[in-house]
Amino acid sequence: MSQVIKNKDNKFDVNNRKYLGSKYKLLDFLEEKITKNCNKNDKKFDCFVDIFSGTGVVANHFRKFSKKVIANDILYSNFVINKVFLNSTKKNVDLEKVENKIKELNNLKSTKGYCYKNFGNSYFTKENASYIDSIREKIEYYKKTNKVTEQEYFVLLTSLMFAIDKIANTVGQYDAFLKHIGKESYSKGKHLIDNNVNKKIFLKIPIIYFDGINEVYNKDANELIKEIKCNVLYLDPPYNSRQYVDCYHVLENIIRWEKPKLYGKTKKFERDNLKSKYCRKTHSVYAFEDLINNADCDHIFLSYNDEGIIPDNEIERILKSKGDLKIYSQDYNVFGNGAGSSKKRKVIERLFYCKVKK
Ligand SMILES: C[S@@+](CC[C@H](N)C(=O)[O-])C[C@H]1O[C@@H](n2cnc3c(N)ncnc32)[C@H](O)[C@@H]1O
Repeated sequence: MSQVIKNKDNKFDVNNRKYLGSKYKLLDFLEEKITKNCNKNDKKFDCFVDIFSGTGVVANHFRKFSKKVIANDILYSNFVINKVFLNSTKKNVDLEKVENKIKELNNLKSTKGYCYKNFGNSYFTKENASYIDSIREKIEYYKKTNKVTEQEYFVLLTSLMFAIDKIANTVGQYDAFLKHIGKESYSKGKHLIDNNVNKKIFLKIPIIYFDGINEVYNKDANELIKEIKCNVLYLDPPYNSRQYVDCYHVLENIIRWEKPKLYGKTKKFERDNLKSKYCRKTHSVYAFEDLINNADCDHIFLSYNDEGIIPDNEIERILKSKGDLKIYSQDYNVFGNGAGSSKKRKVIERLFYCKVKK
């Protein structure tokens, strides 16, 4: 693997995202338990699957222990990021070209379009919303006129997404925006909004490792599971009723760029097809059981904390029907309910391990 970008200020890595339920801080815990149980004689696995991959940090981490990784997520925005970090090759990405395009994008004049109209003065300042309009239109133009390959198009979109996250007037999720947009960061000694919100959006370059032999999908996990085979299946489904598409609808909307009609104060698009069964109490047990029944693998690891909506006795029943079960746990600090509260509290992060009986 070769690392390619050198200028530190101008680059970003796969783990530079605030994401609800990200396992970035739990990677050591996951590595220890997963390699101890599956990595016999330090031999790499043939295939590691991260089927609810979110940011993709787990899939990326396990590349060093596996000949191939497969990452999947129901959100198209996550698929795009996974493509970039897992599927880039020297053939499909010309980095010098991408760097030049990013420079062009950072120097565009603003235009008042879809983002300005819908997200200006709420999720973004009016200025940044109109810069996002020009940048997003230009990326689409590069693709339509074959100025970039499809993979380079994904790189530019990823760069835009990471840049948007930095200047958004949110706590990291887009199910609400903060007050005080348009005001100074400080007033009368009070901190009103994050300083970054008022800075001009700035696109950086991703740190890419060129070993693009991995596979990336944008499917419902319960469908994909019927099509794949692997040694290690890692599961990190949503564990409560907060739908990821509600938390990340602004990014998903800008990346899809179909410019749908938006509803309500929070400006969400019609998104029933992106809602997860794992966030519904009545559907989650059935969905989990179906997933496990269809899994063709040697080892299953499930991350699920002690506040999840699938009851422990159901998880244990379902996994025991597939093989032998062990449960590991670790205390973990989360902030509030994930909805932006700044109060820290402890949850118990559990890792259920099932050695599948053949
Ligand atoms: C807890 S997060 C995963 C976090 C990830 N492990 C990380 O470290 O960033 C759960 C993810 O599952 C995705 N998801 C929810 N339902 C899904 C489904 N039915 N099929 C595929 N992905 C799904 C969500 O979009 C979300 O990104």
